[in-house]
Amino acid sequence: MAKQYYVMKKIIILLFVSLLLIQCKIKPTPEIVKIGLIADSAMVVSARQEASAIGVAILIKGGNAFDAMIATDLALVVAYPFAGNIGGGGFTVYRTKDGKVGSFDYREKAPLAATRDMYLDENGDVIPNKSTLGALAIGVPGTVAGLFMIHKKFGTLPFSELIQPAIDLARRGVVVTKRQARGMNKYRKYFEEANKRTIFLDKEWNEGDTIKYLKLAETFERIRDNGRYEFYKGKTADILVNYVQNLGGIITLEDLEEYEAKERDPIVFNYKNARIISMSPPASGGICIAQILKSIEPFDIGQYKHNSIEYIQLITEAERRSYADRAYFLGDPDFNNIPIDSLSSSTYNNKRMQNFSWDNATKSSDVSHGNIEIIESDQTTHYSIIDQFGNAIAVTNTLNGAFGSKVFVEEGGFFLNNEMDDLSAKPGEPNMFGLIGAEANAIEPEKRMLSSMTPTIVEQNGKLKMVLGSPGGSTIITSVLQNILNVIEYDMGMQESVSQTRFHHQWMPDDIKFEPKFDTITFAELRSKGYKIDQSNSRILGKVDAILVLPDGRLEGGADPRGDDKAVGF
Ligand code: DON
Repeated sequence: MAKQYYVMKKIIILLFVSLLLIQCKIKPTPEIVKIGLIADSAMVVSARQEASAIGVAILIKGGNAFDAMIATDLALVVAYPFAGNIGGGGFTVYRTKDGKVGSFDYREKAPLAATRDMYLDENGDVIPNKSTLGALAIGVPGTVAGLFMIHKKFGTLPFSELIQPAIDLARRGVVVTKRQARGMNKYRKYFEEANKRTIFLDKEWNEGDTIKYLKLAETFERIRDNGRYEFYKGKTADILVNYVQNLGGIITLEDLEEYEAKERDPIVFNYKNARIISMSPPASGGICIAQILKSIEPFDIGQYKHNSIEYIQLITEAERRSYADRAYFLGDPDFNNIPIDSLSSSTYNNKRMQNFSWDNATKSSDVSHGNIEIIESDQTTHYSIIDQFGNAIAVTNTLNGAFGSKVFVEEGGFFLNNEMDDLSAKPGEPNMFGLIGAEANAIEPEKRMLSSMTPTIVEQNGKLKMVLGSPGGSTIITSVLQNILNVIEYDMGMQESVSQTRFHHQWMPDDIKFEPKFDTITFAELRSKGYKIDQSNSRILGKVDAILVLPDGRLEGGADPRGDDKAVGF
């Protein structure tokens, strides 16, 4: 009887998910939703309903979170070409059902032919757009290597079954949302500049149009049949290299052949009674979150009202100091000796906060990196998954800018990243996110570029509590930080938390960026203390997709209303 009930339940869920998949219609998301989707056992929250539903369908089939991750990731390539990719890279942080934690790094690398000054003119000045638009901006993609590495270690269903829903979706086509239509029309002139032609130039896009990705379906089919080899050595590698080189790019077959994804130890630290597991370099998110939380821990921030003047001051000052360190110390760990333990220690960060004053803003120009002895020896998408077995995954992937370099490999049906801009074109000069890098992040062949991505998992009292992450370039770190605090310090639900307005400081430029709806404080008081305020009209800070484990064990999704994001679960 119990078994029959279970089978019935499974069929009903399957029918529901199939309906979602077929329908593919996005309902408008209300601006502020207090409670997110609640599910009993499993959930996927991603940038698109189609991708979340595909991930959940894999879970219903009996796959685990890692299987669902692969299917969701590939579905995002189709449903969310803005950032979902096989032509970019990313990071995955996981916590298995028995509490083991780890991470995968499939960040792009600089091509072998990259040179330190490749984006500078004869006067040594950065040439505008060279590291962001077109073929020279592309780093060697890592996503496909990452997916196969994850599948090899944790996958339980055949890869062919995990890629098939994305193939079907690409052939069936994806309905364009209002935001997507706006995005594709906005970048039209860049698509024109970066390519000979692409399907994105076919027409002016409207909400409700359907785009079919037939070439991408063929690429996926070849990957399904030939495995990892296809992307790095097979026909797809040839197509990619020919296309890029014809546009003046420097990526070679050797670059693709040499690319390897890596397993890395995540950054793990305690904040009060929470244990936080986040991404380590070449992502800066884990270290920066650790630094900021360690800096504010002695101040017991929860005693101040959420988003109050005191709250903003404390966080801003901690962010200022952490981003100054980020600029100096962080880069590819395979090229640099990064003092991770010292940087994230309480002692070091408490010392950095010694000159913090409630009366006056510290000036960023007076803040440099801290003194640590080194002993020798910006478009993105995040999704969160918890499966019915208790495995949790936080995945952040990126092409860097919207549609990456805007180079769309026509024959292969996919965009390529412009991740080279995350390396320092000129140490000391800001990149497209205003971030400054130093020698640690200078361009070198085969170097992974420093990232702000922050896929993160939080435990409380030894149990899984939350899975989260965000896109948003330099604002990723501070968006993740604020959501950790919303839940840990202010006891918010997941949807309530992601719907809150946010602010951001990154050392340089020396201003606090606020989302337009931020109205809980008067800025006059902050100004009187010497803080500069930047509140542009259309600004969005991050787009957080997260899952919270409720006290009774059920899951609450937080799908950011800033996008078309959607939680699906059962
Ligand atoms: O890795 C990084 O930090 C950037 N490439 C992320 C870019 C990004 O989040 C853009 N999204 N809105």
